[in-house]
Amino acid sequence: TVLVVDFGAQYAQLIARRIREAGVYSEIVSCEVPAEEIVARKPAAIVLSGGPSSVYAPEAPQVDPTLFESGVPAFGICYGFQAMAASLGGTVARTGDREYGGTPLTVTTGGRLFGDLPLEQNVWMSHGDAVSAAPPGFTVTATSTGAPVAAFEDVDRRLAGVQFHPEVRHTAHGQTVLEHFLFDIAGLEPTWTMANMVEEQVERIRTQVGEGRALCALSGGVDSAVAAALVQRAIGDRLTCVYVDHGLMREGETEQIERDFVAITGIDLRVVDAREQFLDALAGVSDPEQKRKIIGREFIRVFEQAALDVVGDAKEHGDQADFLVQGTLYPDVVESGGGSGTANIKSHHNVGGLPEDLQFTLVEPLRTLFKDEVREVGIQLGLPESMVWRQPFPGPGLGIRIVGEVTQERLDILRKADAIVRAELSAAKLDREIWQCPVVLLADVRSVGVQGDGRTYGHPIVLRPVSSEDAMTADWTRLPYDVLAKISTRITNEVAEVNRVTLDVTSKPPGTIEWE
Ligand code: XMP
Repeated sequence: TVLVVDFGAQYAQLIARRIREAGVYSEIVSCEVPAEEIVARKPAAIVLSGGPSSVYAPEAPQVDPTLFESGVPAFGICYGFQAMAASLGGTVARTGDREYGGTPLTVTTGGRLFGDLPLEQNVWMSHGDAVSAAPPGFTVTATSTGAPVAAFEDVDRRLAGVQFHPEVRHTAHGQTVLEHFLFDIAGLEPTWTMANMVEEQVERIRTQVGEGRALCALSGGVDSAVAAALVQRAIGDRLTCVYVDHGLMREGETEQIERDFVAITGIDLRVVDAREQFLDALAGVSDPEQKRKIIGREFIRVFEQAALDVVGDAKEHGDQADFLVQGTLYPDVVESGGGSGTANIKSHHNVGGLPEDLQFTLVEPLRTLFKDEVREVGIQLGLPESMVWRQPFPGPGLGIRIVGEVTQERLDILRKADAIVRAELSAAKLDREIWQCPVVLLADVRSVGVQGDGRTYGHPIVLRPVSSEDAMTADWTRLPYDVLAKISTRITNEVAEVNRVTLDVTSKPPGTIEWE
């Protein structure tokens, strides 16, 4: 394991991902974890991330020199590079020369870090301070206008660092530099693959669950599907999946789970048809928050009953169903502070409002993985691309994409329009470029149109294609006009109740991605 010491910038996760892309497993630890503890975890190497502070600021996180005396190979990036320099006897100074963004870098000595890479290259910088003198024993290998020492290495001690950010795509040869550190300086081997990961997890799940039984709620999303498939591989039919059909899914989605997913994985699936129950509960409600609350409440009710049934059936066989599978991902673990160790990770708690007497131990086979790795695991497990590459879709489903009351008729209208949009975006091969494209029915709005010889008085559909990295911010996607035209023509021709198609050109903020 390579440990990425997080100095509080948003880059640590990205660094960990890039290291894994190089085929080396990596995890994140907070910079507050003491050096002895980090060394005690016997990391194959340590990477010090960038961070927002100046190394000379009074509250700046420092690097304990014992980290470098331990003999563990280490690589400093940006702030981590400066902290490394400062702690080993180099000099860090305010140069007054702030560098931010794309910056030309001159390689002065190839060394191991740059090897045969071009002597002039473009890198991504973001710093005010700069290293003005490398610590004793280090060779300076690159320089830039604002950073006299932009990279250094001490091959004997297996230490190196760079002022720029090798983990961002704007740094032309960043990944290569990172790999040079991992393979040519730290001497590691690329052995981390998703195939190994599947095997390892299967073993781990078998150990954890033993002869017990597990339950998993399938949502139709990537994470729960992959988690379930992985657990199925480990414990077979001692896993029961529950899928609550709330009637708010898009066209074909429930069938995909009921038929295709089961056929591929052999999973024991219980589909609970709760469509009427949800529609009844939503009748007469058009306030978005109230709709969300109702859908959440009904979901818990239905799932709770299903869980009780599964537990009851297990008891009849003399077994206990006391494990609950969840598709928690690594970014959630890191963000909730669980990334720095195992001590503060709760594994036994109440999930999503389930009652006290239904206590489950969590099985979270994806908790060390990033989203792109989860997709790879899905592919390894034989899941179809359409499922593995599914775009985010909110839990409350189409219920929050009908502006106004949710009725069966309105759901049917929206489902038809949405299916057309998805088909056309796929045909134009735009699926992976768009983060997601909500299709919204303005059910309480009507406008006048003309079709054939007649006047129409129909509803508008809103297209909301967005580009995003993490859904926190988003920009509206500039879809090609011909694709928009095709979508518009098809919807107005094929969906009788819709006579207008509009495009949402609002970024987030100020707009949210969903309309409700
Ligand atoms: P907003 O509309 O807040 O959406 O910009 C951000 C992202 O979250 C998704 N979303 C949800 N996902 N349950 C979910 O699982 C929800 O209640 C929910 N609401 C919004 C939305 O699709 C987008 O990806």
